Formats: sequence, C-alpha cells, structure tokens
Amino acid sequence: MCINNGTLLCLLVGGFTVIQLMDGSKHNRRDAPPIVDLTVEGMFSRTREVYQNALKRFGPIIGVWRKGRLEYITNEIYAKQVLTTNDLFSFEKANAQILNLNVVLYIPGRSFFKDLVKLISESIDHNLDRIIKSVYPIFERRSRELCLATTRSSDAHTRCSPDFFVETQFTMAEVMVTVIFGKDHATSANIQSVVALTAVFATLTGMQYQNTSRFGRTFPRLYRMITWIRVMAVTVPFELCRSIGPLIWRITGEYARKSGPRATSMATPNEEPSSVLIYACDKYVNPSTMRLNRKDRLWIVVLMLGLLLASVHTTSVVATFVIYELARRPEYLQPLREELKTIVEHDSASGRTGLTLQSLSLATKADSFIREVMRLKGDTLAQVRMSTCDAPLGPYIIPKGCLVIPFSTLVHEDPTVFGADASTFNGFQWVEKSKPAVMAGASHIVFGLGRWACPGRNLAVNEIKLLLFNLIQIATPSLHEGTFEITDAMNTVTVPPRAALSLKALDV
Ligand code: HEM
Repeated sequence: MCINNGTLLCLLVGGFTVIQLMDGSKHNRRDAPPIVDLTVEGMFSRTREVYQNALKRFGPIIGVWRKGRLEYITNEIYAKQVLTTNDLFSFEKANAQILNLNVVLYIPGRSFFKDLVKLISESIDHNLDRIIKSVYPIFERRSRELCLATTRSSDAHTRCSPDFFVETQFTMAEVMVTVIFGKDHATSANIQSVVALTAVFATLTGMQYQNTSRFGRTFPRLYRMITWIRVMAVTVPFELCRSIGPLIWRITGEYARKSGPRATSMATPNEEPSSVLIYACDKYVNPSTMRLNRKDRLWIVVLMLGLLLASVHTTSVVATFVIYELARRPEYLQPLREELKTIVEHDSASGRTGLTLQSLSLATKADSFIREVMRLKGDTLAQVRMSTCDAPLGPYIIPKGCLVIPFSTLVHEDPTVFGADASTFNGFQWVEKSKPAVMAGASHIVFGLGRWACPGRNLAVNEIKLLLFNLIQIATPSLHEGTFEITDAMNTVTVPPRAALSLKALDV
C-alpha cells in the first residue's frame, strides 16, 4: 500500500537489504523514504543497535516492515514534527490501529480519545489533591505487605520478594479502582479482574508478548488474528462480565433511577463527584430528563475500560523500572530518604505521618530520578502517528495511511541536547534544570508530545513517588546479582524488566 513507485530492486548493503527503484534513480524530494529490510532476529533482540545503524546508514527516515506492517521510522530531528503536526500525522488513527481498536473511531457522535482526555483532565487532574489523600493508605499498606512477604520468603538465600511487577500491578489496579469507582468498590474480585483485563489488553495490542514469541514474530498477522479472537471472544467477555462490567452497569443504572441527584450537586462548586464514574454520569446525564440512556451507559463502560487499560499497566512498568534502577544504584537511596524526611507531613491529632499532593510536589529529587529513569530505560518504538495524506517530512513524502514512529532512544540520548554524557545516568540532574518528570518536550517524549501527550501523567508520576517513598521508608531494595534484565528490547513501555528484587526491612 505504501510502495507507490514502480518496480523494486533489492540491494544488499552491509547486512541490510535496501529496496530501491529499479531504474536506479536516486531518492529525490518527492520519493517515499527508502525501505530497509532488517533481519527479524536482529530487530527484535538488538532493536536499538539495528535500527540506529540503519538510520545512520540510510538517512533520517526509513521504512521498515515489522509484524506484517510497513512503518516509517525517523531519527530525533523529525520527532517533534511527527508528534505535533496533527493535520498530517494522526494520533487517533495510528493508536486505534496499533491497539487493534479501529472500531472505536467509527462510533457516531463519540470521540474515544478526546472524551478520555477531557474526562481525565476534569475528573482526575482537577481532583488530584483529594485523590492522593484517598490512595496514600493503599501504597502504605501494600508496601508493608510486600516487605513482610519478602522477609517471610521461603527462598532464604536471595530473600526475593514475590514478583515485584505483579505486586505493583495489583497496587496500581487497586488505586485505579478506588479512583474510578470509589473506595467501597476496591474489592479483591474487582482488583483481580482489572489486573486480568489489563494483562489481556496488553496481549490484544500485540505489544506485550508478540515480540518475545517466535510464532508472533514469524506469523504476525495470524498471531494478531488468533489473539484478537481469543481475547475478544473469551477473555474480555469473561473478565468483563465477571465483575467490572456489571459494576459499571449497576452504578450507572442506580444513578439513572435516582434521576440524577449528582447532576444537581454539580451546581454546587464545593461538592465534587466522589469518583470518576459518577463524574462521567454527571457529564452524560440528559439535563432535561435527568436520566442516562442505554447508549450513554454503554459509552461510559467503554470509557472506564479505556481509562483502566491506559493507566494500570504503563504505570506499573515505569514504577518497576524506577525501583529496580534505585536498587542497582544504592548511592541514591540516602538522599531520597533525606528528601522524604523533609517533605513528610505529620498529623498532630492522629500522630500519623503521610504525603499529600503538596508534599509530593516538593520531592524534586525523587521527581528528577523518575524522569531520568524514564529517559534512559531504553524506549525504542513507542509513540506513533499515521499519515493522513501523502505527507511531506524532511526530504521525503510519507505515503498516506502509513505509521510513522520517531525512534525514542535517539531522542532521549541526543548528544546535541544532552551533551557528550547523554547516555550516562544522572539521577538528580533535573532538579537544577527545573524540568519535572511530567514535562514533555522535543527531547523528552516518554509521555508523548503536543496535543496528545499523556493526560494521566500527573497522576502517574505521583503514584510512582508514593510507591517509591513508601517502600524506601521501611526497606532497602537490592537486586540479586546487582542488576536487572530487559525482557523485550523492542518494548520497554508495556513489558517490565526482569529481576529478583529483595527488600530488607529497616529497623525502625
Ligand atoms: C508512567 C505511566 C504512563 C506512561 C509512560 C504513559 C505514556 C503515554 C503515552 C506515550 C501516550 C501517547 C502520547 C502520544 O503519543 O503523544 C499516552 C496516552 C494516554 N495515556 Fe498515558 N501514560 C502513563 C500513565 C497514564 C495514566 C495513569 C493514565 C490515566 C489516568 C493515562 C492515560 C492515557 C490516555 C487516556 C492516553 C490516550 C491519549 C489521549 O487520549 O490523549 N496514562 N500515555
């Protein structure tokens, strides 16, 4: 579909195959970028090296077939242009395709991604202070439990905690269930269901397991088809019907039967909706009848699912990277503990200590550490757009309907921006540079960039800080053999690193 220029000839150049025009004409300004055939094994296991070498060798934009799709990969120079020129490069079309969710783009009168952004901004960002207060105890309790489980571990030699990523997923799932549905609904059945749903969703997107599955790499289309059927026909209906779906349906139903008491409460500025779901009900209720119709209730189910799927898995992966990185860099532990002492709040009435949005905003070292971990964790092919027409980009034209992906490692380790030490970990450098972890920019695209930059990043970074501080105030993390392993070189966004983490309880 994207090769629109006559007969092709394959040339073998230094281990790559470059596909060029048969007539031998050089690429000129109106050509599509050259298509480079990377060896399958190389691109999946040595992603960074193989793509970067190809970009160095064949120019700033190359076409690469991956998992049965042609993608155009750009170097750091075009990252900003691709991510922010919305009329030429569409976020919505690209992500719907990548997530195998094209269907959501064609629901009349609805806009899945735009509605999600609005929902997050109005119901989460505006209430972050209250949300942090309500979820703080979850991090406190779960850190204690994790530390205890590690201490009791039967593996006396390594004293490894239960799978840290899985534990973090449960923590983040409990947080999101509390935020979205309210504390009363944070039952273990609902939390388990959310973890299961987010895991199958990662499979559905083809991102989590396809890169590491030989079958998925060899037969990408077949893999996607089978996965889609398995997930959509079996797992999603089962998990959805088991608890989360009925829960949303019941709450929206009760809301409708009560003829919208929340809607009237919206008129009172001090009275905020108690959960994101109630906020959504307030938003979609028919103001004249004060009722929610079935279509709106179904749309609310879709949005709540979208919110869960966008938030739990990604945050758990980054949090795991942060804790593992801290465990292998013990020199950062003491300064972070010192910082915690300076920001922690004491409630004289209860004698308890805690952290609030205000105190977390003062945690500049932790914030900088998180930003640096995100910058250097090794993202490669992460943010994606789709050309909406034959789109000019640098010296080339990207044919309409093609995926375009800036190569993240080149952006995050650009020596012209970060200097000669661009690839060296410097955990507190962002304190002086006053660049908070949530700040996106042309050289920091972990949360994307421009209009579509992640709307949940304020919540995500605060969650990670809560997890970090709650852990280090009771335990010292360390890694078996002092390091961790990247599980999937192509995907550090939804696939966590692998390690055996141990938590040594502090004597308090
Ligand atoms: C550390 C954790 C997270 C990371 C690394 C992350 C990263 C991203 C990235 C890269 C994008 C695409 C941006 C672009 O292409 O320009 C995105 C989109 C999105 N994120 Fe996050 N995210 C995280 C946590 C969250 C959380 C906690 C929420 C919800 C509360 C959330 C909600 C969304 C949504 C709804 C989108 C879709 C885009 C949109 O509608 O604007 N994310 N995220």
